[in-house]
Amino acid sequence: MDIATPQTTAQAVSQKMSAYAEPLGYEVRNAAVKRFVAEVADLCQPARIVYCDGSESEYQRLLSELVSEGKLIKLNETKRPGSYLARSDQSDVARVEDRTFICSERKEDAGPTNNWMAPQEAKATLKGHFKGSMRGRTMYVMPFSMGPIASPLSQIGVQVTDSAYVVVSMSVMTRMGKSVLTRLGDSENFVRCLHSVGMPLAAGEKDVAWPSNKETKYIMHFPETREIWSYGSGYGGNALLGKKCFALRIASSMGLKEGWLAEHMLILGIESPRGEKSYFAAAFPSACGKTNLAMLIPPAAMPGWKVTTVGDDIAWIKPGEDGKLYAINPEAGFFGVAPGTSLKTNPNAIKTIEKNCIFTNVALTMDGDVWWEGLTDEPPAQLIDWQGEPWTPGCGRKAAHPNARFTAPVTQCPALDENFDKPEGVPIDAFIFGGRRCSTMPLVFEAASWQDGVYMAATMGSETTAAASGQIGQVRRDPFAMLPFMGYHMGSYFQHWLSFAQKLPVDALPRIYGVNWFLQGEKGEFLWPGFGDNMRVLQWIFERVRQRSSARPTEIGLMPGYADMNFDGLEGFDEAAFAKLTTLHKELWAQELALHESLFESLGERLPETLAQKREELLKKFS
Ligand code: OXD
Ligand code: MN
Repeated sequence: MDIATPQTTAQAVSQKMSAYAEPLGYEVRNAAVKRFVAEVADLCQPARIVYCDGSESEYQRLLSELVSEGKLIKLNETKRPGSYLARSDQSDVARVEDRTFICSERKEDAGPTNNWMAPQEAKATLKGHFKGSMRGRTMYVMPFSMGPIASPLSQIGVQVTDSAYVVVSMSVMTRMGKSVLTRLGDSENFVRCLHSVGMPLAAGEKDVAWPSNKETKYIMHFPETREIWSYGSGYGGNALLGKKCFALRIASSMGLKEGWLAEHMLILGIESPRGEKSYFAAAFPSACGKTNLAMLIPPAAMPGWKVTTVGDDIAWIKPGEDGKLYAINPEAGFFGVAPGTSLKTNPNAIKTIEKNCIFTNVALTMDGDVWWEGLTDEPPAQLIDWQGEPWTPGCGRKAAHPNARFTAPVTQCPALDENFDKPEGVPIDAFIFGGRRCSTMPLVFEAASWQDGVYMAATMGSETTAAASGQIGQVRRDPFAMLPFMGYHMGSYFQHWLSFAQKLPVDALPRIYGVNWFLQGEKGEFLWPGFGDNMRVLQWIFERVRQRSSARPTEIGLMPGYADMNFDGLEGFDEAAFAKLTTLHKELWAQELALHESLFESLGERLPETLAQKREELLKKFS
């Protein structure tokens, strides 16, 4: 029988529930939630069941328990109040893309960019693993909302997990607790999220600091029945199921059916010295500095400009009644990459994580604080590394794991936008797409039409190795920065984006921009300072959407001239430097367009004809 499918009879459920003591926590009335919990308990056989209420006292109690079990280290209360360090198993340090599956009924609906398994086969395989997987452990039940509880753009999930670390992390990353069930009422409309670390405990067996399953990991998504089954990992996106699994993979397929978009995008607000405001949503592949851009502080030479943060990773976007697109950040916390984060690169992030923060896989200082590569220019003389071993500079190992993370509530961000919690979301004036490209892609350009913008986003990529001068590096195509997060066929996704040109009034469609902060010169030096100075590019976009700054047409779209952008206070940056950032090289573009063809070929019949035509047009322009 399938877990919590409506056909389960009430009688069968009450028989199953009777095998377990009454769940602890509070009484739940929603029959579908009870049925889901009973069926998971029946399969996973936990020692006890606890409904999480989402209260501060529950959060503190779980943190204390995790400390006493040796699963968290309490950091120095004076230096880092209310904060903790977790160290994962060495084999459980990141998302596992090769173990991630979209289990749609039909293989072609998952498309060529996803791993696929038939739902029945996936469930049969995973039931074998989940059977008894929570023995000796507590099964926590977390009702959670992705997005403000009162928002029409939000969606509800119920995650069952046998990891208290996951519970405290989800308390930070989502709106979690009893109040979500009040919103749910009697509805069966919630995403069923099942998670187990896959390491049952025999009677009297001592637990380890980071339970996980070293042999078997599966992250399975069932878009038709809106279920997520995750087994074997306790880390990040594998285990905090509200994030990549729900808010991107399942939500993208909901969006396709219901006419909205779930995107791997940050959302930022921009205020001009005149007090005008715009919101932009921007997609970048993982590790391209999304959190830095979302929390940008403009340079001193741009007085009066201000950036506010709505979200740093995910945006849910829906047409509003006025025809404009409105976005919410479905998350309530930041799960950011720690290495590289410093007062120089992201002062607002450093302030956000001063307190009440859960760190994972960073290094521990001798006085009970945290450190990672890039936090300070000089490393401390001595540390305990992410695996708990003594560390000194020059020992040849990294002190923090490169994917070490901080988990902190958005409310601690000094630049949090005043409309972060607004149920209707914020109106989007521009979409920005960017990858890490050392050549080919200019600093910034505006797509000449919605369709041109969709083409640009569909073909975006990021370099995995530095390119020799005059050549394209190893580029991983990452359409819309969604490659690891798509819940359905990439070709249908492109068509879904194109369809908004018909659904929305032309003047309400946001403009679409391409950016590239990572251009390099012949010696491999970066040609653009990036970070706070990216505000100069945002200002040009801000003025463009108000039709106040000019641009010149090029083969790929509209680009600023030197005089169209603000370079005040940027030492030594002249017209020649600008030219290097904005010149389109024919030979590189010929190589680039050939790479687009291989992506398009892989999508087969579902590639929208419009995009194939756009490629033909570009080929002509560059020939
Ligand atoms: C992330 C990612 O963790 O994109 O946000 O990988
Ligand atoms: Mn991300």
